[in-house]
Amino acid sequence: MKSLEDKFSQFEDKNRKAEEGGGAKRIDKQHKAGKLTARERIHLFLDTGTFVEIDKLVTHTCTNFEMEKHLVPGDGFITGYGKVDGRLVYLFAQDFTVFGGSLSRANADKIVKISKLALKMGAPLIGLNDSGGARIQEGVRSLAGYADIFLLNVKSSGVIPQISAIMGPCAGGAVYSPALTDFIFMVKDTSYMFVTGPDVIKAVTQEEVTKEELGGAMTHNTKSGVAHFVGENDEDTLMMIRELLSYLPSNNMEDPPAINNTDSITRENEELQTLVPADPNKPYDILEIINSVVDHHHFLEVMPHYAQNIIIGFARLGGRSVGIVANQPNYLAGVLDIDSSIKAARFVRFCDAFNIPLITFVDVPGFLPGTTQEYGGIIKHGAKLLYAFSEATVPKITVITRKAYGGAYDVMSSKHVGADVNYAYPTAEIAVMGPEGAVNIIFRHEDEEERATRVEDYRENFANPYRAAELGYIDEIILPRQTRLKLIQGLEMTQNKNESNPPKKHSNLPL
Ligand code: HXC
Repeated sequence: MKSLEDKFSQFEDKNRKAEEGGGAKRIDKQHKAGKLTARERIHLFLDTGTFVEIDKLVTHTCTNFEMEKHLVPGDGFITGYGKVDGRLVYLFAQDFTVFGGSLSRANADKIVKISKLALKMGAPLIGLNDSGGARIQEGVRSLAGYADIFLLNVKSSGVIPQISAIMGPCAGGAVYSPALTDFIFMVKDTSYMFVTGPDVIKAVTQEEVTKEELGGAMTHNTKSGVAHFVGENDEDTLMMIRELLSYLPSNNMEDPPAINNTDSITRENEELQTLVPADPNKPYDILEIINSVVDHHHFLEVMPHYAQNIIIGFARLGGRSVGIVANQPNYLAGVLDIDSSIKAARFVRFCDAFNIPLITFVDVPGFLPGTTQEYGGIIKHGAKLLYAFSEATVPKITVITRKAYGGAYDVMSSKHVGADVNYAYPTAEIAVMGPEGAVNIIFRHEDEEERATRVEDYRENFANPYRAAELGYIDEIILPRQTRLKLIQGLEMTQNKNESNPPKKHSNLPL
C-alpha cells in the first residue's frame, strides 16, 4: 500500500508535469520569440490569486503516430475561471509548447466544458489563442472537436461576451472559433491569423507572401477588418482586454456595470462651440467632441485602424457604459461605404445584445457613390447598418453636428428608426442632399449665376436643423458646449426603457 507521503508526492509530480508544459527548451523558444507562456498570460490577466484551473490532468487519447508515448498532463490547453476587477470570467489559454497548442479531442472537450459553464453561469469567456489548429495526428476527431466549439460559440453569441486574443501563429480552426466571438485582439509582430499559411498558398496558387503580410496584426487591423484591437506585446494586449471587460455586463440579462462617477455632469467645453467649422466643406475631428464629452475624456476606440470614416467605441457618461458610433468628417468626409457600414453595424448589434446604450454623432454627406461600391454591394452592406439601428432596442441618443443628408440621415439613428432622443447643433444641415447637388438636379436648366443664387437660397432654407425640429424629428437644438450634460440627461430619461421587437425565431439581417 502506498504511504500518504507517496500519494501526495504523486499528486505533486503530476501537477509539476502539467505546469512544465512542453518543457524548458520550448518555453525558452516561446520567450525568445517575444511571447509569454500560457500560464504566464493567465496570471498576468486575472486578478492576483484568483485563477482556478479545471481539467489540469486531462491527456489526449490518440494512439496514431505513437502519440501514446507523448503525454503531457493538460494536453496543451489550460482552462478554468478567475476574476477581472472582482468579476467572474472563464478562460482558456493554448500552450504553444505542447504540440504547437494544437487541438486534440481531449482539449476540445475541456473547452466545451468551460464554455458550457460560462454560458450556464452567465460570465464572459476569454480565449488566449496560440495554436497551429487541428492536431494533425488526431484527424477527424480534432475536426469534430472544433465543430463542437464552434457550435457553443454560436449558442453563446449574444448571451455572454466572448473575447479572443490571438497571441501566436493561429491557423485553421484556431481562427474560426475567434471569428465567431465578439472581439478579436492581436499582438504586434508575434501573432498571425490565417485559414492556411504561406507554404500552402505557394503550393496551391504560386502566390508568395510573408506570414506578416498574409495575417499579421496590422493586416487584420487595417485591411481585412477581422481584428478589433492590436496590443504592443502580450502584457499590453491582456490589459486592453481587462479594460474592454470593464464596459461590459457579464451576460445579456444584466446591465453593464455602473461606476461611481467623479466627473461633473454639467461640465461644459467652450472649445466645442467653434469646433465644427462654418464652412461645410472643411473637415474637423469628431474624436475631439467624443473625448471632450465622455467621463474623464476617456474613450476606448474599437477598430481604430479600419474604415476610419466611422468611429466606434466604448466610454462612460455619468458613470454608465455607452457605445459610441460617429461619422468622422476627417476621413473621406465621413461618408458611409461598405466597410464602415459593416464595422458600425456589428458594433451596434453587440451593444444592443448587451444592454449598452448607443450614442450616435452624425456628420455624413451620404453613401459613397460609384461602381466600386455598387458592385461590392453597398446596397446590402449599407442595409446592415440601417437594420442594426432599427432593430436595436437599447436607449438610442443622437446628435447631428453638421451634415445629415439623404439615406444616411435615416440610417444614422434617426427618430424614424427608433432613436429616443435626437439633438442637433445649430450648425446641422438636414436635407435630401447638399445644396449644390440639389440645385444641379431641380434647376439644371438655369444658368450658372441663377444656380449660384439658388444654392444660397437652398442653404438658407433647407441646410439647417429647423425644418426637422418643426416636424418633431429633432427634439432639441443644443449648443455644442452643452453636449455632455444633454447626453447624460438623455441617458437618465431613457434609463428604464423597456422595448422589444416582435417574437421571432431570429431576424434575417442582409448578409
Ligand atoms: C500537431 C503541430 C501542429 C498541428 C504545429 N505543431 N502545428 N502539431 N498539429 N496542427 C507542432 C510542430 O510539429 C512543432 O512540434 C510545434 O508544434 C511548433 O511548431 P513549429 O512549426 O516548429 O512552429 P512555427 O515555425 O512557429 O510555425 C507555427 C505554425 C506551423 C505556422 C502554426 O506549425 C504550421 O503551419 N502548423 C500547421 C498549421 C495547420 O495547417 N493546421 C491545421 C489547420 S486545419 P515540436 O515537437 O517540433 O515542438 C484545421 C481544421 C479546422 O485547423 C477546421 C476549421 C473550419
